[in-house]
Amino acid sequence: MGLIPEEFISDLLHRADIVEIIREYVPLKKQGQNYVGLCPFHSEKTPSFVVSPHKQIYHCFGCGKGGNAFSFMMEKNGGNFVDAVHAVAKRYGVNVPQTEKSPEKAKQDKLRDRYFKINELAARFYRNALHGSSGQDALAYIKKRDLNTETQENFMLGYAPAGWNNLSKFLLDKGVSQHDLILLGLSIISQRGTLVDRFRNRLMFPIADDRGRIIGFGGRVLDDSQPKYLNSPETPLFYKGKHLYGLNLAKASIRKWDQLIIMEGYMDVIMAHQHGITNCIGSLGTALTANQARLMMRYTYNTSICFDSDAAGQKAALRGLDILEQCGCRLSVITIPQGKDPDEYIRKQGKDAFEELIVKAKPFLEYKLLRLMEKYNPDTVEGKIQVIEKLLPDMQKITSPLARQAFVQVIAEKLVFPETAIYAELRKFSGVNRNNKQDREVKRKCTSIHALEKAQRALLKLVLEYPEVISKVEAWGGKELFNHTLLKEIYQNNYLMRQAGHNIKANDLVTLLDNPDSQQLLTEILIEEDSPGDVKRIFNDCLINLRLDYINNKIIEKSSLMSKYEESGDVTKSLEIMSQIQQLVKEKQSLATTLRKGGILNEN
Ligand code: UTP
Ligand code: MN
Repeated sequence: MGLIPEEFISDLLHRADIVEIIREYVPLKKQGQNYVGLCPFHSEKTPSFVVSPHKQIYHCFGCGKGGNAFSFMMEKNGGNFVDAVHAVAKRYGVNVPQTEKSPEKAKQDKLRDRYFKINELAARFYRNALHGSSGQDALAYIKKRDLNTETQENFMLGYAPAGWNNLSKFLLDKGVSQHDLILLGLSIISQRGTLVDRFRNRLMFPIADDRGRIIGFGGRVLDDSQPKYLNSPETPLFYKGKHLYGLNLAKASIRKWDQLIIMEGYMDVIMAHQHGITNCIGSLGTALTANQARLMMRYTYNTSICFDSDAAGQKAALRGLDILEQCGCRLSVITIPQGKDPDEYIRKQGKDAFEELIVKAKPFLEYKLLRLMEKYNPDTVEGKIQVIEKLLPDMQKITSPLARQAFVQVIAEKLVFPETAIYAELRKFSGVNRNNKQDREVKRKCTSIHALEKAQRALLKLVLEYPEVISKVEAWGGKELFNHTLLKEIYQNNYLMRQAGHNIKANDLVTLLDNPDSQQLLTEILIEEDSPGDVKRIFNDCLINLRLDYINNKIIEKSSLMSKYEESGDVTKSLEIMSQIQQLVKEKQSLATTLRKGGILNEN
């Protein structure tokens, strides 16, 4: 399949009517300019799902989901973007054209298809071997581990027979080349120079990508010999740290529950699925990578980690969590009681018991707190202070005052330590780490974060609705005016498209943003009621306030640079920067005056 031309996608989006499309799934009622209904993505009794025929987007004020016609189809049917385009095209009776693939790409795709086919053949060979005469011990082992036939089929379990080259011979007979067998990690050249199977006398776990295509294998011994597991090496299909075991089987339920559970091992994931806990995936024993985090975030932002309760497992959990946190996931940790891994726990205690553990999952920071309390002695004052000190960077990072307060409360309770003392430590820490005196002074005078974010949203909304104001916003700093990452991303995407001469509409912009968070934020902003009042006035107020904040930040930045030069005795540089600061202060004063006088700027 080739690529779908972008022009077609855009035309289709403009031809389709989002109200018509959504109506086939959700009863909608007209309300003012918009339509409202019960959100199909979360359960609710009063409608908070809004569809705008004017902007051709939808947004739910309950769960936050939003997007254009394509996003709706993806969300509703669980397919990818291309599937959604096809579904909408079908609805309107148009054929989806394909551009020719480049010969290079066509060759690559053909190669990959061939590799997938070979892996498929290998998996089938292993499966047949499991049920053949040589597979008795393996089958007995599977039974011993309580894996039922349905599970065996779902996870395509198999057996690599004990001989030297059963699989290699089988595949060579099917016309597979020796080169491909080695490249895919199925065979290796022995020391004697012969072609032998990599996996011998092992229970086989095929590893699939999120579309269910087999990319590699893991093989477990049937006894206590070492290494316990052997995995495919890196191949053209299999990269370490890029895949998640079981994602193909888990993705629908991850979407449905808007949550996923990460486990360590093959057996853990398989046992969870067998018990109907189907939103579990495996990290395959290594620390989580940013690639894996991004893959997860295609399906949900709510991630729970459930690693083994041994020390190694706990350490791995912490490492994994840091990566996930950096990628913006909401995190919690499921702890298995003493000495068990998820497989053993679920097998012995059952689904209900495990679901209780899910409910009791601790938010990441609370989990970190508990771990620290095991490390340092929380019965002594020194111990308490050590724990608090280790948590200060995390506390400082919490931007919501309410969330921070809640966390401080938890620490105070668990450590039996006064909240005020924790706040004092936090202030000291923030003082040392971020703000010098001047910084704090400026911050205090400056408008609150919340007001600034509001201004950024309002400005963005105006830019999207009145494209003619973009040049003015650009003259005042453009994307620099936005310190909110997602708002900045939306602004910049819109600006660049306009700059390139595209007259894009709101629903086009949704397609351009590939981060679901920014898509949802965009639809939320667009579908919100316009703020009452004079548009020009709002525009100017936002612009001035954001410019003021921008200048304040620049002043702080330059001041600290200036003191560095002063310390190092570089007078010329420090004078140069001082004059730049004076320039900024001047601009700031004149802006402040304009704002006091009512905020209307001269046209220019
Ligand atoms: P575990 O040692 O916890 O194995 O390793 P497990 O999944 O509980 O397996 P059982 O219950 O003993 O059969 C967790 C994961 O680490 C990887 C595997 O992906 C395994 O599932 N691992 C472990 C290896 O890749 N090689 C090894 O030798 C051991
Ligand atoms: Mn285990």
